[in-house]
Amino acid sequence: MVDDGAANRELIRSYLGQIDCDVREAEDGPAALAQIEISAPDLVLLDVRMPKMDGYEVCRRIKAMPHGRLLPVVMITGLSQTTHRIMALEAGADDFMAKPVEGAELIARVRSALRLKELYNSLDGAEHVIFSLATAVEAKDAFTERHTQRVGESARFLGQCLGLSDSMLDTLYRGGMIHDIGKIGVSDSILHKPGPLDPIEVPQMQAHVAIGESIVRPLRSTSGLLPIIRHHHERFDGLGYPDGLRGREIPRAARIVSVCDAFDALVNDRPYRVRRSTEEALEVLRAGAGSQWDPEAVALLASELPSIQHLGAA
Ligand SMILES: [Fe+2]
Repeated sequence: MVDDGAANRELIRSYLGQIDCDVREAEDGPAALAQIEISAPDLVLLDVRMPKMDGYEVCRRIKAMPHGRLLPVVMITGLSQTTHRIMALEAGADDFMAKPVEGAELIARVRSALRLKELYNSLDGAEHVIFSLATAVEAKDAFTERHTQRVGESARFLGQCLGLSDSMLDTLYRGGMIHDIGKIGVSDSILHKPGPLDPIEVPQMQAHVAIGESIVRPLRSTSGLLPIIRHHHERFDGLGYPDGLRGREIPRAARIVSVCDAFDALVNDRPYRVRRSTEEALEVLRAGAGSQWDPEAVALLASELPSIQHLGAA
């Protein structure tokens, strides 16, 4: 925890008492960097406004360290304007939250960041590249900040509600995070297009599922994720792509991720439209249940909505 205010550090330390973790403190950027150099933590909570070196610069320096890319940094900013959030993302922050810090939100975010770190720790060298690529995809599109992680978290949560096995939960989390990895091969002009795609652009966008598959296929450890990557745009009525699977022919994990992906996309801004309210998003999902989406997955998401929103507290 890096903050020049002793009272802030005290407050955050008291919140973190609810999580099983050790808390180390630094009162400015240079002190934090020196500590991280000696012994890297699992997570850095970083204040933005500090003397000597501001939080953005501290974040940039952490991310430039060997393995720093894989050390989650959550920036805590007193400034809620979009520009400051974008500056945090540009500095490489994995997440940010606004002051005053609210206890339940802090705990949710810290848990989520620690889970991310645990995932990174469990990856082999090639997998690191894949997950870093997934982050790079997100960085291509400023509108989808933290989208993939929220999809992973919510898909995992729905899997938990369904009583699925631990390995399936792991598949849902990882698959939710990298399902759109193939977008790395789609041009920015298509990804960022503010209006509907034309008939030439549509297949180029749809190619992201096959591109994603070809990126991930060589890795045995991620082979369980291939059905999610390939089939997350299938539709329940069989009119989706790439294979026109219908109903339960579509792998269950892909059906779950697809609903989580759609919900999170609806309640967040996209290049081609502004975000919708939760109620409007649910209406869209319910209207498409049985045609676009698995009706069971939609009903489950709707009934678990408060928990889902808590996971992605924005
Ligand atoms: Fe996709």
